[in-house]
Amino acid sequence: MPVIFHEQTKQFHLFNSEVSYIIRIMENGQMENLYYGKALRDREDFSHFHEELMRSQMSVCVPEPGLLSMHYVRQEYPVYGTGDYKTPALCIRQEDGSRIINFVYKGYEIRKGKPSLAPLPATYTENEEEADTLEITLHDEKLDTDLVLSYTIYRDYPVITRNTRFLQKGPQTIVLEKAMSACVEFLDMDFEMVQLSGAWARERYVKNRPLEMGIQSVYGLDGTCSGAEHNPFMALKRPQAGEDNGEVYGFSFVYSGNFLIQTEVSTFDMTRVMVGIHPESFSWTLSEGESFQTPETVMVYSDQGMNKMSQVYHRLYRKRLMRGVWRDQARPVLLNNWEATYFDFNEEKILNIARKAKEAGVELFVLDDGWFGVRNDDYRGLGDWYANLEKLPEGISGLSRKIEDMGLKFGLWVELEMVNKDSDLYRQHPDWLLAAPGRFESHARHQHVLDFSRKEVVDHIYEMIAKIIRESSISYIKWDMNRYMTEPYSLPADPSRQGETMHRYMLGVYDLYTRLTTEFPEILFESCASGGARFDPGMLYFAPQTWTSDDTDANERTKIQYGTSYVYPIVSMGSHVSAVPNHQVFRKTPIGTRANIAYFGTFGYELDLNLLSDQEMEEVKRQVAFMKKYRHLIQIDGDFYRLLSPFEGNETAWQVVSQDKKESIAMLYQKMNKVNGSWMRLKLKGLKEDALYQVSLEGTPLKDYRAYGDELMYAGIPVDRTELNRRGGDFASLLYVLKEIQ
Ligand code: DGJ
Repeated sequence: MPVIFHEQTKQFHLFNSEVSYIIRIMENGQMENLYYGKALRDREDFSHFHEELMRSQMSVCVPEPGLLSMHYVRQEYPVYGTGDYKTPALCIRQEDGSRIINFVYKGYEIRKGKPSLAPLPATYTENEEEADTLEITLHDEKLDTDLVLSYTIYRDYPVITRNTRFLQKGPQTIVLEKAMSACVEFLDMDFEMVQLSGAWARERYVKNRPLEMGIQSVYGLDGTCSGAEHNPFMALKRPQAGEDNGEVYGFSFVYSGNFLIQTEVSTFDMTRVMVGIHPESFSWTLSEGESFQTPETVMVYSDQGMNKMSQVYHRLYRKRLMRGVWRDQARPVLLNNWEATYFDFNEEKILNIARKAKEAGVELFVLDDGWFGVRNDDYRGLGDWYANLEKLPEGISGLSRKIEDMGLKFGLWVELEMVNKDSDLYRQHPDWLLAAPGRFESHARHQHVLDFSRKEVVDHIYEMIAKIIRESSISYIKWDMNRYMTEPYSLPADPSRQGETMHRYMLGVYDLYTRLTTEFPEILFESCASGGARFDPGMLYFAPQTWTSDDTDANERTKIQYGTSYVYPIVSMGSHVSAVPNHQVFRKTPIGTRANIAYFGTFGYELDLNLLSDQEMEEVKRQVAFMKKYRHLIQIDGDFYRLLSPFEGNETAWQVVSQDKKESIAMLYQKMNKVNGSWMRLKLKGLKEDALYQVSLEGTPLKDYRAYGDELMYAGIPVDRTELNRRGGDFASLLYVLKEIQ
């Protein structure tokens, strides 16, 4: 039983074989965290973990003996007005203008399994034995408000999830101005903060910084998405911790809108972590009988470094966040026409590209932007979700059937949350924009955001797109979103409730996803936002893969995919081979390298294969066959290991290993070639020490190369520089396939 309440000491212990989380009910009724870390054996009393000392300038907030000040206590959910001067997790504006609150313990419930947070995305269980949930209810007597702190501990993962829920029972109307999902406090500040930050076309670069006294954070404030700038993730790692050793605490937020992940270090070296919806521009009004649910935070504890943390997130998100028929299936090899044609296509051109893709063994053809309304450029058309008959005389239904007749599946691009002013939709509903009256209506890529906080808007868009899907033969949808929110104001909403708009918008997006995935459960959804600006766990709940970045250059992709792998499973990363010179950085990389990097994702092509030479086409056929053979290992069965970081040196390397450790694939990539270079060895991970493996270099099998797991891991594979030269030198890569020999 992973959650135990010790009645006498009033302590809760959440634990499994890897992690412990211990909370106690304090004398003043508030909740204190006593411990979070490696699993401890259970006992009745952990009160020796409580720290208390009389300090000057202490505000006494507990009646006699009166030593205790909340400023020095590791709190589970700190609020303002308790003698704690750090940033609170909660702020409630009351009818009398006060923000002083006092939530005290009222009761608890331990239940099997994990309750759904629908309509919000969240991790789940498939049977009640997989997890236990502890709900602690706190109560503010003056307001008659309940606050429920919810914790789930998984049996088989070092994972604790948290969220909070508010129920206003009293007659007064209160306003939540800040309502974080989780707060965790540590006694010390001996951590580095690891974040995934970047910008368009260079999303999720790994950044490390030591914690300092004061506040440090990552956040998203662009409203419509988690953003290219900062991913809703942070890890605190011990300075000595590396990829495979040391303590790491991961915090991942299951949400796709504005977020804040903040560390606050006090002058007593204590670290407070908070995760939740960003309080900037947020408020939520609760009248009698109303409730508010915060999104989920997923906390992973690892005592074996960053790689273990990542593997836990990968397994959990692949098995207990993603859903639907595609969750456990390897993904089709696709070809997307965006970089092949941009807006300039007609049916004949598309069929030509698709025919060649079929010849290469591709399974799914995806028609990207430009197929609808008057969409011949990015100035117009968004919102008019019906086919442009000048380009596609038989519409999407006709084209999709022709593609299917070739033996390919058909996929379609949409951008449902947006509208151009040059569109029928805007002309019919100019008041559907998310815009503030009397203010400039800012645009980005010439488009505006539809007010998805309004049900009638979501209903209308749903009907338009569902009609196309019903009439056609569609197996895949790429759901794009290409601009941030700048004037989040909802016209019909009450002025006092405008602070709810951004969250209500996200609920509208989740609602549309829910309706479409319910009506069309067989469709594979891929989320996208100007590349990878909405790569977050909230999206993965609805769409099990995300377009990782608009940057398709292989060299750039090593960094983007490496950083993304900190949290997100390989199978969730959209990754394609594109043309050279690359359209983003104009670099030429070998076609073998482009595939070697794209294999570690969903895999596909983003070019017109008709433009390749016969030799390149033969190479593409070989690549497609390789991916079909190994995709189950790479995407579904394998554990992912990072070997060499593109942020640290000239080489990048990574590897997947099957669950039974009998098969593995490793990739080594070098940026610049070296003349007369020194010896290089690639040390693998995750193999069976005493198993004998056959090692083949993809494309050129090494004759009789056999080695034991311990040799491959501790001595490494000697890297053949001649082979790197043969493969182009600069930007060359090697792919090793390992199989255990019986
Ligand atoms: C941004 C996406 O990231 C691209 O892949 C492509 O779909 C364009 N939008 C189309 O406008």
